[in-house]
Amino acid sequence: MAKVLIIGAGGVGNVVVKKCAQVPQVFSEIVLASRTKAKCDKIASEISRPIVTEQVDADDAKQVSSLIQKHQPKLVINVALPYQDLPIMEACLATRTHYLDTANYEPKDEAKFEYKWQWAYHDRYARAGIMALLGSGFDPGVTNVFCAYAQKHFYDEIHYVDIVDCNAGEHGHPFATNFNPEINIREITQKGKYWENGRWVEIEPMSVRKDIDYPEVGPRASYLLYHEELESLVKHIRGLKRIRFWMTFGEQYLTHLRVLQNVGMTRIDPVEYEGHKIIPLQFLKAVLPDPGSLGVTYKGKTCIGCIFDGVKDGRRRQMMIYNVCDHAECYREVGAQAVSYTTGVPAMIGAKMMLEGKWKGAGVFNMEQFDPDPFMEDLNRYGLPWKVLDGKTLEC
Ligand SMILES: NC(=O)c1ccc[n+]([C@@H]2O[C@H](COP(=O)([O-])OP(=O)(O)OC[C@H]3O[C@@H](n4cnc5c(N)ncnc54)[C@H](OP(=O)(O)O)[C@@H]3O)[C@@H](O)[C@H]2O)c1
Repeated sequence: MAKVLIIGAGGVGNVVVKKCAQVPQVFSEIVLASRTKAKCDKIASEISRPIVTEQVDADDAKQVSSLIQKHQPKLVINVALPYQDLPIMEACLATRTHYLDTANYEPKDEAKFEYKWQWAYHDRYARAGIMALLGSGFDPGVTNVFCAYAQKHFYDEIHYVDIVDCNAGEHGHPFATNFNPEINIREITQKGKYWENGRWVEIEPMSVRKDIDYPEVGPRASYLLYHEELESLVKHIRGLKRIRFWMTFGEQYLTHLRVLQNVGMTRIDPVEYEGHKIIPLQFLKAVLPDPGSLGVTYKGKTCIGCIFDGVKDGRRRQMMIYNVCDHAECYREVGAQAVSYTTGVPAMIGAKMMLEGKWKGAGVFNMEQFDPDPFMEDLNRYGLPWKVLDGKTLEC
């Protein structure tokens, strides 16, 4: 039915390509492009359908435009890094091609993620008659859709939302990150932030901890972080009084992170080393395990969801909507661990929503702005089944 161009051949790109290949009635032709073409070729060799592979430097909007002109895809799925969001959006605008990503733009020299740079494209996308869907991973992504679903079916007003993200898996390495180490460490070393009574409250990194009882996993230490879906959800959820985001971290992970920070290895400013300028965090990425390689030994589960507290027909209602995903099962299906899987599957489903016309619009959109029902149906169909737990609260 439609040709897609997927940019990025890392942990998430591998899953997106393999899941799109499973749905040929929608993704009739697939082009995979990345900075290192050999990684695209490796993924291509692992699927039975033929796909086209290309080399591209997606920091350069002109290169991306030429690639789009060459292949004429209907949609570009961006699963490279957040730094490439703007050049790829620019190329989509120049060629009037639909756009989708899983993470919002960050400038390289400042660990700050905000939607303002991408939302600024709204009017130009609307005038060009094309659509950009932002944050179609799990969190952001599925968590936004869980909120839209709760708002549509279970609540008149949602007063409190806690997004909870637990990885209870063990990969056997003393220290590794589950997605791109540079992006991951930038995210968790910046100040935490949540939204309450109409304003943002900032906290020191990892300074608020709570033991949360995760369904099918059990209690885990969870830390309050800032996460990008909070910024769009405060605009779109009715009656909201507070929204927060929590993520689990083990003691071993936090000890390693503290040491790396204390010795300066998480710095993102250039330092002089033997006549070269290097960025310590980029060097650290080069010596840490590749997240895509963790799947071989990964055991255990992830549990990610939203805990809601609000009102329906004048009565208080508390509940959780969540998914549990098993690392080893993901590896058996697509050769990836669950963090890549839970990001790649929603990217495929978001693209499917756009190509089937179930989600359509001209401009730049976040996930919760569309009807959640067809997306929720496809989560069950394509490997991320979800459950509702009535009466669930945040307390252990
Ligand atoms: N929403 C969610 O739930 C969620 C969760 C996890 C991750 N994510 C996002 O998913 C994206 C991919 O993560 P990942 O773990 O797959 O990262 P990854 O394994 O590091 O893969 C990134 C890929 O992008 C390619 N790339 C980097 N710079 C490029 C450039 N200038 N031009 C072309 N290709 C370039 C890399 O190429 P090389 O191989 O040559 O380096 C690599 O193939 C990230 O944006 C991440 O933030 C979202």
